[in-house]
Amino acid sequence: MTLLLPKRPIGNTALRVTELGFGAASLGNLYHSVSDSDARDTANAAIEAGIAYFDTAPYYGFGLSERRVGDALRGHDGIVLSTKVGRLLKADSSVQGDAERHGFRSPMPFKPEYDYSFEGVISSWETSKQRLGLARIDILYVHDIGRLTHGVRHDLTFHQLTEGGGFRALEQLRGSGAIQAFGLGVNETAICLEAMKHVRLDVILLAGRYTLLEQSALDDLLPACVHSGTSIVVGGPYNSGILATGTRQGGALHYDYGIAPQTVIDRVRRLESLCERHSVPLAAAALQFPLAHPQVASVIPGLGNPLRVENALTLYKTSISDTFWRDLKNEGLIHASAPIPAPAADRSSERYETGIKGHPT
Ligand SMILES: NC(=O)c1ccc[n+]([C@@H]2O[C@H](COP(=O)([O-])OP(=O)(O)OC[C@H]3O[C@@H](n4cnc5c(N)ncnc54)[C@H](OP(=O)(O)O)[C@@H]3O)[C@@H](O)[C@H]2O)c1
Repeated sequence: MTLLLPKRPIGNTALRVTELGFGAASLGNLYHSVSDSDARDTANAAIEAGIAYFDTAPYYGFGLSERRVGDALRGHDGIVLSTKVGRLLKADSSVQGDAERHGFRSPMPFKPEYDYSFEGVISSWETSKQRLGLARIDILYVHDIGRLTHGVRHDLTFHQLTEGGGFRALEQLRGSGAIQAFGLGVNETAICLEAMKHVRLDVILLAGRYTLLEQSALDDLLPACVHSGTSIVVGGPYNSGILATGTRQGGALHYDYGIAPQTVIDRVRRLESLCERHSVPLAAAALQFPLAHPQVASVIPGLGNPLRVENALTLYKTSISDTFWRDLKNEGLIHASAPIPAPAADRSSERYETGIKGHPT
């Protein structure tokens, strides 16, 4: 039986996404391999659980994630799909064996080339549909535009979007109804504010920058999004892992695609102590915290096997006391102006069956 999870709108569009979405970088073999059958079972488990928003990208396993996501979603109505533009995949016959490239294990034999121009965006959209084996894509994100990725080449790549017609291509696709929404998919806030000066964004997939660990987006980006009616999809809600694993397990602790620095570990330890006092799983707080902001439409953890799906559902539904959220704020562990979930008494008791008051399903 497919369950009904609460949905929230994307910007001012007719799209509604489930509060819990599926981040499919994992299905591109991010960090470790996922077999085809595990990938299928994972996506099917998510669909069965009522997760009705999937995010993928050409970059994730150089086409592998899109192929797997498309195979899983084909024939299912009502699931919102986003993928990305900005990198075109070029066949690379020099690829040998199953070495890791760009963090992906055994990716497909392609290499990514940046192209944010008009032609690049249209070509990316067309080839994504071919790989997905789907006739429509709901949301396109401009992937990894900005200084964080492009450094000194930022002006050049951003120029492709503005003067080179990348934004114009996206506006045309949205205007014609070929896609329903577009935005950026990035790990930094500065580029979002810069892009918003040029174009109306329906939604921003902001990875790792509005989490239990970091809320500086409250100072500038989130107020700008409130003003423009732009939704936020929170990617990387565990900041690449440390907010799911905590600090006490053995082995490497992952933060922002790398090894966590000591300052981050110290901060997570403080969060863990509070969680322990209130018997709250750290990962549950990490998954639920961003959703307290009204601009956030969905939180999309990376899900790489069926157990992770089940676990994410449990964490998402875990009841967390009002005192935990208040203490989190009173002890200065989150930004002073960060919204926290409304007191339980003000919430619908049937939240998971009927949707949240004020957020049409
Ligand atoms: N620029 C962009 O547009 C952008 C950037 C980043 C992310 N995103 C989106 O956001 C999605 C999620 O990001 P992400 O996968 O990088 O980061 P994430 O969700 O913050 O963290 C994923 C990591 O957390 C671990 N994890 C998840 N659940 C766990 C659990 N219950 N217990 C222990 N460990 C757990 C996973 O380990 P296992 O591998 O062992 O399961 C994985 O290594 C992506 O798939 C993508 O859709 C977009």
